[in-house]
Amino acid sequence: MSAGWSKDQKARWPRAIGALDGTYSAPSVDAFDEARLEALSKELADLEREVSPSDVEQKQRRGIVKHLKRVLERHVRGSTLHPFGSAETGLVLRRGDVDLCLVVKDLRKPKSVLRHLSNVLDTEDYRDIQTIGRAKVPIVKFTDPTTGIPVDLSLNNALALRNTELIAAYVNLDPRVKTVALAVKHWALQRGLANAFRGTLSSYAWTLLVLRHLQAVDAPIVPNLQAGEPRRVETYDGRSHDTTILHPEGFQPGTASVAELFAGFFHRWFVEHAWDERIVSLREGDDPRRSKRRWPSPKAGPVKELQGSVDRMGQHVFAIEDPFDVQHDLSRVVRAEGWADIMEEGLRMWEGLAQGTDLATLMAPVDGLTLAPDRPKGLFDDLQGMDRERVAALLATKRAELGVAKERVDVLVAEREEAIRLSKAMRGALQDTKGMSDSIREVAKGLRTRAAEMDEMKALRDAENKRLVLPRRRIEEELKRLYHTLTNEVDVFRVPSLEREQRDFSRFFELQAMHRAKVVSDAHRQQYVELLQVQREEVKKIRTLEKDRKKAHNDLLKEEPGLKEVRVRSGSVGEYDQRANRISALLKERRKDRKRLSREVGRLEAFLKGGPKQGGGRRQEGPRGGGRGGPRRPRVDVKEVRERAQSGGTLSLSDLGALLDQGGLPGAKKDDQPSKRHRHKTERQAASRRRTDLKQRRGKRGKGPRSPRE
Ligand code: CTP
Ligand code: MG
Repeated sequence: MSAGWSKDQKARWPRAIGALDGTYSAPSVDAFDEARLEALSKELADLEREVSPSDVEQKQRRGIVKHLKRVLERHVRGSTLHPFGSAETGLVLRRGDVDLCLVVKDLRKPKSVLRHLSNVLDTEDYRDIQTIGRAKVPIVKFTDPTTGIPVDLSLNNALALRNTELIAAYVNLDPRVKTVALAVKHWALQRGLANAFRGTLSSYAWTLLVLRHLQAVDAPIVPNLQAGEPRRVETYDGRSHDTTILHPEGFQPGTASVAELFAGFFHRWFVEHAWDERIVSLREGDDPRRSKRRWPSPKAGPVKELQGSVDRMGQHVFAIEDPFDVQHDLSRVVRAEGWADIMEEGLRMWEGLAQGTDLATLMAPVDGLTLAPDRPKGLFDDLQGMDRERVAALLATKRAELGVAKERVDVLVAEREEAIRLSKAMRGALQDTKGMSDSIREVAKGLRTRAAEMDEMKALRDAENKRLVLPRRRIEEELKRLYHTLTNEVDVFRVPSLEREQRDFSRFFELQAMHRAKVVSDAHRQQYVELLQVQREEVKKIRTLEKDRKKAHNDLLKEEPGLKEVRVRSGSVGEYDQRANRISALLKERRKDRKRLSREVGRLEAFLKGGPKQGGGRRQEGPRGGGRGGPRRPRVDVKEVRERAQSGGTLSLSDLGALLDQGGLPGAKKDDQPSKRHRHKTERQAASRRRTDLKQRRGKRGKGPRSPRE
């Protein structure tokens, strides 16, 4: 029934497809004899030694954690950094990452904290910084530049701290737990089956499968540490979780060998277990039916899903319940191809073990899979084989480059300060003269309305005057004269004719109307004159205000001649802010260059101080860097060395090496002036204070364009 599978798929996953359609038959457990099991136990013990990190690597890992703890806790106010994962459970592999959890109080905006962290890490020169916000718990992944060790930093991952505690408790119960778990984790990594981001299971899920297997064997190696009383219930993110971890007394572990346990792991999960019916539950110490969690069974065949490499298999293809977050199935990340790869590889392993194939062959890395180096990068790897002269020449070049880099940083700092000062000065000037400008605007507005009124008055008066041909005085005289004529005693000899009298009356009324109109027109004129007077006063006022404003600007120019070229207006403030921001971005890069070069100069100096043994191509054996060269160091008290370095004391090679291991070579060489060192420190402290406040803006003038970070 292998219909639906392509030829390529059948070639790639013969066992997985065969197991699905019932055509594959796995070897039986009887294939193992005593001799085979004994040999396998020995191979597993060797493997454990081989895959465990060296003392040096462990020290480097501790150094990374210590350094990050100092840096991150300083940059995020009220936070604490906690290591978890394999480094804490004891199941750490050479290539394993460092898992860290930053516990932040009152975490309201995880994304902005992640962004901030990624900026801080960038400034600290960590490599390959990648923020993954879509994961169940948002994380930042990055690589330590000196050792190449990868780091996963998550936020408020409280349950992970708890499940780390649980796994550690299981590991501490019996040494076989560690041997089997490391072998399974190593196998999964080598065969490309342990990458939740690429659609296979996480190392954590593989660990849970191992622990559940050790609970489930006929004579269990570990009991269920989550069973019994009293219970502990804790609330995280508003959800309560039963995080009980107990240590039952009187448990007698079974006697199976690591070989039996390791081989049995593959038989259990790839031959026996009914994945489509059951859930793997470490918490219950059982494999309950899927119906218990209402997790649906995956479809019988993944034919359709396998068409694309990014398809997920559906939520519960390898139903593995998280021990504390019971709603969480660790297989929800598994994609179709991941499912087929895991099944294929699991069956291949079981077959190989049954046939007596050696572990090295079975665990060879899959084609095309680039793996992290088995051993950490030694500090002086690249210098091995070089003679001292070449290293000295290299050092001279790097010192010169460092000098240039320092100058660049200084120039940029000065430029940025200038831009910020000018932007601030402008802001201040605008603020100071704002009152004046407002008054000028107000007065000018009055001038405009008044001018309109004056125009109106003038127009009215002109219109009246056009109509009234006689001046007001003449009208009044004429009125007086006519009045007398019309009201005087009538001289019987000179009685006016009726016609004349009528004409005089008519003229009298006409003049009266004319007079009234003239009075109104004069009032308009008077108003116009008054308005003109006010207008003159106001213009005078504007002149005085403008003089004051000019004086304020001139005072500013005296203090800030750089502003001469610029018109002081809010747009220019924005330009200067932007300029300062651009310089800040550039400065970040230049500072990284400086740091990188500084570290390199320190490293070369340390190498040369190590004496002629390191040069001349002689490879030094020893535990440092997995025997990859570089001088062997005596124990060094790093704190003491750091203090000595800071007070300008001389540092030996081992001192410097220890400082480098701790991720913190002092910023300057021993011939650096103490004042400069002090400046770096205060600069860092000030920057730290600023960075801790994620919402920092300059001052309260929040309306304008965003200010640069000072
Ligand atoms: N973790 C989790 N839920 C997951 C994956 C991981 O809670 N789905 C937590 C667990 O606490 C686990 C830690 O993250 O111990 C680290 O996970 P991982 O790196 O997958 O496991 P390690 O044992 O650290 O494996 P490695 O050594 O390969 O890094
Ligand atoms: Mg890990």
